[in-house]
Amino acid sequence: MPSATNRPINRKVVLVEYVNGMVGPEHFRIEEEPAREPGEGEVLVKADSLSIDAFIRTSLNAVEGLHQQVPLGGAVVALGVGRVIESNAPGFAVGDAVSGPLLAQTYATMPAAMLQKIDDALPLSTYLGALGLTTGITAYAGIRYVGEVKAGDTVLVSAAAGAVGSIAAQVAKNLGAKVIGLAGGPEKVAFLTRTLGLDSGIDYKNEDVAARLKVLAPDGIDVFFDNVGGELLDIALDHIRERGRVVICGAISQYNDHDHVRGPSLYLRLAERYARMEGFTVMHFAERYGEAHAQLAQWLKAGTLKMPEQVEHGIDAFPAALRRLFEGGNTGKMLVKP
Ligand SMILES: NC(=O)c1ccc[n+]([C@@H]2O[C@H](COP(=O)([O-])OP(=O)(O)OC[C@H]3O[C@@H](n4cnc5c(N)ncnc54)[C@H](OP(=O)(O)O)[C@@H]3O)[C@@H](O)[C@H]2O)c1
Repeated sequence: MPSATNRPINRKVVLVEYVNGMVGPEHFRIEEEPAREPGEGEVLVKADSLSIDAFIRTSLNAVEGLHQQVPLGGAVVALGVGRVIESNAPGFAVGDAVSGPLLAQTYATMPAAMLQKIDDALPLSTYLGALGLTTGITAYAGIRYVGEVKAGDTVLVSAAAGAVGSIAAQVAKNLGAKVIGLAGGPEKVAFLTRTLGLDSGIDYKNEDVAARLKVLAPDGIDVFFDNVGGELLDIALDHIRERGRVVICGAISQYNDHDHVRGPSLYLRLAERYARMEGFTVMHFAERYGEAHAQLAQWLKAGTLKMPEQVEHGIDAFPAALRRLFEGGNTGKMLVKP
């Protein structure tokens, strides 16, 4: 165990100003301090990868909204994976691989009860992506339990080249659905069909989405898995079929102006077509995490589920990586290796 004088130096991303609008490096600073020795029941974890998630942005508003607020001067929230390097907790040994709310920092001293041990036969980052709570498990819950996707359905997914969207689209494919993805730019649309194996993609930034949907889904869509909200939600509502399901996973187009969220104007399509719209958070399905994890792991092993990663290196890259999510600058799962 390192002595008090040669403790590992923790570098953490601290919030210096609440965010109103686009998030950027100006809202944060990096602080350094010796990593605290673990107290009773605690462990010290060296972070291997941190998950860059859309929910981090909503925790940075001056007014508490969707997620618990980060206090000014506090370390920014982030889920991560890493290895135990000091343990003062029964059942946790040096070298164990763990996942949990490590925060945006290089070392985390925290209660072992907040961590889960993970199997390091797989790359640790898999537990943030395909098998991660805020990515794979969220996508699976939304497609299976909320959207109730079945073979033969036509499924539309927004932000389909992002983390949750990539997995949601592939889960629907694995269930036998025809899947159309929405993404920004021709490279991302090529990624949807060539890398992820979706049936088709629409470049919402450069194509007329409504016109393309008429061609690609002439009978309408059974399920819309929405990560984006705003105008795309209205277009999808206009194309929903009888008994269709609109799954509200998120609305990333609205997070930068939480006080003026644009709601759907075509919601009466739900009544006209006996369709439903239902929101969820992954936490609502806690009792089914095991089932979701097992199925995702099986598809991963079989090669019918992929989670390409976009990795940035160094904790200093954290703020810019977070911003990139809101500029469409990521393909697949955005991670920081601190
Ligand atoms: N319900 C839950 O429990 C839960 C859990 C986790 C995540 N989520 C939600 O899942 C969604 C995806 O999150 P993620 O962490 O996986 O991020 P992500 O999809 O990896 O990255 C975000 C993507 O959203 C797209 N985007 C950003 N701003 C946009 C805008 N104004 N209009 C249209 N598209 C925009 C960009 O793709 P393009 O380049 O294609 O525009 C970007 O790559 C978010 O809405 C998040 O809140 C929900």
